[in-house]
Amino acid sequence: MEYPSGLRSLSLFFLVGAASSSVLFPRDPVPSGYAAAPYYPTPYGGWADDWSESYEKAVNLVSQMTLAEKVNITAGTGLYMGRCVGNTGSVPRLGFPELCLQDGPLGVRTTDNITAFPAGISTGATFNKELIYERGAAIGAEFRGKGANFYLGPSVGALGRKPRGGRNWEGFGSDPVLQAKAGSETIRGVQDQGVIATLKHLIGNEQELYRMYQLGVQQAYSSNIDDRTLHELYLWPFAEGVHSGVGSIMASYNAINGSAASQNSYILNGLLKDELGFQGLVMTDWLAQISGVASALAGLDLSMPGDTVGNNIPLVGYSNWMYELTRSVLNGSVPVDRLNDMTTRVVAAWYQLGQDKDYPPPNFSSNTADREGPLYPGALFSPSGVVNEYVNVQADHKVVAKQVAQEAITLLKNNGSFLPLSTSSPLFVFGTDAQADPQGINSCTDKSCNRGLLGMGWGSGSANYPYLDDPISSLKRKVTNVTYYATDSFPTVPAPSSNDVAIVFVSSDAGENSYTVENNHGDRDANGLTLWHGGDALIQKAAAKYSNVVVVIHTVGPVTMESWINLASVKAVLVAHLPGQEAGDSLTEVLYGEASPSGHLPYSIPVSESDYPASVSLVATPTLSQIQDTYSEGLYIDYRHLNKEGTKPRFAFGHGLSYADFSFTNASIAAVTTLSAVPPARPAKPASPVAALNATIPAAAEAYWPASFDRIWRFLYPWLPSNEADAAYAVGSTGSATYPYPDGYTSVQKSGGPPAGGPSGGNPALWDVAYTVSATVTNGAAARLGGKAVAQAYVQFPSDINFDTPVIQLRDFAKTGEALAPGASATLELSLSRKDLSVWDTVSQNWVVPAPGGRYSVWVGSASDDTPVVCYTDTLECEVGVTGPV
Ligand code: NOJ
Repeated sequence: MEYPSGLRSLSLFFLVGAASSSVLFPRDPVPSGYAAAPYYPTPYGGWADDWSESYEKAVNLVSQMTLAEKVNITAGTGLYMGRCVGNTGSVPRLGFPELCLQDGPLGVRTTDNITAFPAGISTGATFNKELIYERGAAIGAEFRGKGANFYLGPSVGALGRKPRGGRNWEGFGSDPVLQAKAGSETIRGVQDQGVIATLKHLIGNEQELYRMYQLGVQQAYSSNIDDRTLHELYLWPFAEGVHSGVGSIMASYNAINGSAASQNSYILNGLLKDELGFQGLVMTDWLAQISGVASALAGLDLSMPGDTVGNNIPLVGYSNWMYELTRSVLNGSVPVDRLNDMTTRVVAAWYQLGQDKDYPPPNFSSNTADREGPLYPGALFSPSGVVNEYVNVQADHKVVAKQVAQEAITLLKNNGSFLPLSTSSPLFVFGTDAQADPQGINSCTDKSCNRGLLGMGWGSGSANYPYLDDPISSLKRKVTNVTYYATDSFPTVPAPSSNDVAIVFVSSDAGENSYTVENNHGDRDANGLTLWHGGDALIQKAAAKYSNVVVVIHTVGPVTMESWINLASVKAVLVAHLPGQEAGDSLTEVLYGEASPSGHLPYSIPVSESDYPASVSLVATPTLSQIQDTYSEGLYIDYRHLNKEGTKPRFAFGHGLSYADFSFTNASIAAVTTLSAVPPARPAKPASPVAALNATIPAAAEAYWPASFDRIWRFLYPWLPSNEADAAYAVGSTGSATYPYPDGYTSVQKSGGPPAGGPSGGNPALWDVAYTVSATVTNGAAARLGGKAVAQAYVQFPSDINFDTPVIQLRDFAKTGEALAPGASATLELSLSRKDLSVWDTVSQNWVVPAPGGRYSVWVGSASDDTPVVCYTDTLECEVGVTGPV
């Protein structure tokens, strides 16, 4: 049996490291105005109330660890050196286990007996917070059941700035608030099962091409993001995730403002650990670490999977940390208190999620499907044993998976209420996307092909299907008279009768840069926003032949539709996003009216790709110097841009029709907290228990290789030969270290903290509820069917302020718990926090309410361009039946 995902992509990693070089290329200067200012030292964790018990226990455990033991849990033991995609070292003497880190956002990757949930983009399209939580809880239960300590998700970066971006589908949509709320419900769901969630990728990972440092070959691109845009768009979902208690954060591959994400002190020490008061641990993305000491000083806590990809070829047993971190601590380059802090953060996260009690060890292998095999497949010689126990963790999670797949389905067009269909109409189905991959549902590693139904994108964000309910099988179960043409070229068909219905299945795929699929290098660089496999022509030809055409699109993001959307015979269009294993009945039930569609677009669908700002195109010029990707559009991505320009999209952000007939009435707004321009002062920062740990350089003997140790070649260890440990100690103990510390470096902890800062997400006052808005939604008595209704609340800032703000910005959303029968009503509640009504003031470095008593208009409706309700914060009045601002 071969290694399904891991070792086949080994070539990538060899390629990455093949050009051995000892120096980095000097990096290009970033454009003026974009800076990653030095920010040192790393603030200790352990001062936030909700983590204090875990830190107390962690400090107690870490205080008993030797130098080598501490170091051993701050890095992985090497790629393919354990069952999981990442495996830390352990401290068996004190009962601290190896920790298993596993992809990915939609389910446990590369294993069996799991659920392949709908992707993040489907989840965002449900606009259903409670359901998003349920999906997270089910995912968490499966990670726990498989013995994975870390869930490498959710992904909120990529945020979706670039419509062609390869990994947007792993996240929840092109809006920071949608990402934030969906991300945080997912985190709560996962972590309620005791699994450590890992919010990723911090930050600016908006493109796959040229994302990685390939030392000696190429530098990762630099995402150049100004301070305000960083706070108001890209950092926003991370702040919300930290506020929800996320245990871990993964740094991205790329650079931000010229400095690599895994060693960017401004992002990690400054924004994340000081301003957002993050108490958990920061890990690298896989093989993203490009330095030893610099990354430690900049706030990195865990190197994954442990190997270096810098000066040496990976997979031969070299690391930037492990034995090198030991050396750097002994010789005084990395202060002991930094090591204490990183170790404590790892241990505290473990306690915080209760993993010290009855947490199962891994019972699966992401390297092989065989029951037995090498325990360390990346080693030259490895002991063997049982690596797969085939534990079934599915429980009844298919129910929530199907619910998400169904509630995501977004009805864009339904001329003459053509849908739902009647089972008496003969059905003619076109497109290979309607059927499971004929070569096998898991025939392409990590879904690195677009063959058959597109249920997820490709790369580390994919999972194996345990089974696939494909649409064509489901339709055949429902309707007797079905003819399926499993082709993407329009076939010769008999002359249709007027009652015939054609359903055309089409797709658009994307994924991670580790694979190229039909010339798309992760991003949709080859296909752009055009349907794959000639989808446009298939629809056009079907529309020329049949007078009743329904289009079903499985897609990672927006696709352009101009060549067919207005054809008279294209009666209905559904975006089914990326449904995972439950693609069939979830759709059929919507097509036949057993459930109303209730999904809403988590991005805009433009008329033309050129409607977006040029700056969000892929940066595509490979160069030896650093590619600069400058976010010159600032806050204006997706609907924020289209609205500013007055460009009408084909379908607006938030759009989604129903079979029900919803209207909003009885809107009201209540002031909850009176706002001041500047938030109340942040709470004082208490002392951290980490400060009590011994910070003097330990004896060199703590780093010596244990006597007669049976070493596995290529496994990464924290020990040094005694002569090397002694030599390092000699330097450290005499204070003669010559490490070239970066500008602005200090090891002295700052007292206090930034004014916007505070525990777990920033100044707690930012989350004070300022206003609540409620509205009644009613399904008209004459409606044909029931359905779930969504209310979206968009804020329009007062017009006379000194800040340029987007016309409207999503700030909250709610969905009815049940489908509303014809004539039924429900009240939906929305809330606006202080932060929702603030802008990031780059001068005072704080969130300010630009007009505390001024007129904010809160637009409520079912889409960003359909907001029939407005409430005003100054008069506390609402109007219903109005036309919105876009
Ligand atoms: C790289 C991806 O960017 C990241 O999302 C994933 O978790 C790691 N590889 C591990 O597979």
